[in-house]
Amino acid sequence: MDKQAIELSERQGRVEGMNASQPAERRELSRSDERVHVYRAQWSFERLSQMIREGDSVLNLGAGDCRLDQRLARDHRCEVVSLDVDDYNETELPLVLYDGLHIPFPDDSFDVVLLIFALHHAEDPAAVLREARRVCRRHIIAFEDSLISLADRLVFRGFHRFLKWSQGFPLPQHEWPPQRWSELARDIGLAEIAQKDIGRTFGYLASRHMAFVWEKTDAADRTP
Ligand SMILES: C[S@@+](CC[C@H](N)C(=O)[O-])C[C@H]1O[C@@H](n2cnc3c(N)ncnc32)[C@H](O)[C@@H]1O
Repeated sequence: MDKQAIELSERQGRVEGMNASQPAERRELSRSDERVHVYRAQWSFERLSQMIREGDSVLNLGAGDCRLDQRLARDHRCEVVSLDVDDYNETELPLVLYDGLHIPFPDDSFDVVLLIFALHHAEDPAAVLREARRVCRRHIIAFEDSLISLADRLVFRGFHRFLKWSQGFPLPQHEWPPQRWSELARDIGLAEIAQKDIGRTFGYLASRHMAFVWEKTDAADRTP
């Protein structure tokens, strides 16, 4: 184990009230659901592996099934910590559960923090992003749906209602256009260094997706 890995596992061990997911609590998946989850992880992995350096330490905030984390660890040599408010873990990786507001890691713990289709599910996205900024050393990468027109929002709603009906996933809390995510990031002291159209996961059944890459500016840390 290299120094970075040792630091990470020590950090995980130090987390107060940390819960690792137990295999017995995991949900039963149908074969077709599993194929969809494997495909989604592959889809996100293909895009993220161009944005994250091999060997980076990564916090996946809102990790969901943790399959992406498994790919990043195995195929991109990343040291990944999976964090979520609920346990959807379908892997053998440990999952850290938290209260959705206070990330249980010290400042500047990770090279990269991921928010993959997670921010629109957070009750208070500003609080989550502020915490992501605190624990991040280099970049925050968020994938969000590009909700500009009414048609985009209707597709988004229909897709999430289907997910709730078929798999019991919660409905989104926010239907924001890309500009609103960019403004939120800017307001909490993040500079947007890229915003990119990354296509659609499920053709016209799902909305178009955007990747945002944000980095810390010093302004928010300066005391008046
Ligand atoms: C649509 S799922 C995406 C899961 C995974 N990132 C993926 O792309 O497959 C949204 C995830 O955000 C999580 N979530 C909701 N509120 C959150 C919060 N405040 N902080 C972190 N994750 C949150 C949910 O529990 C869920 O796992």
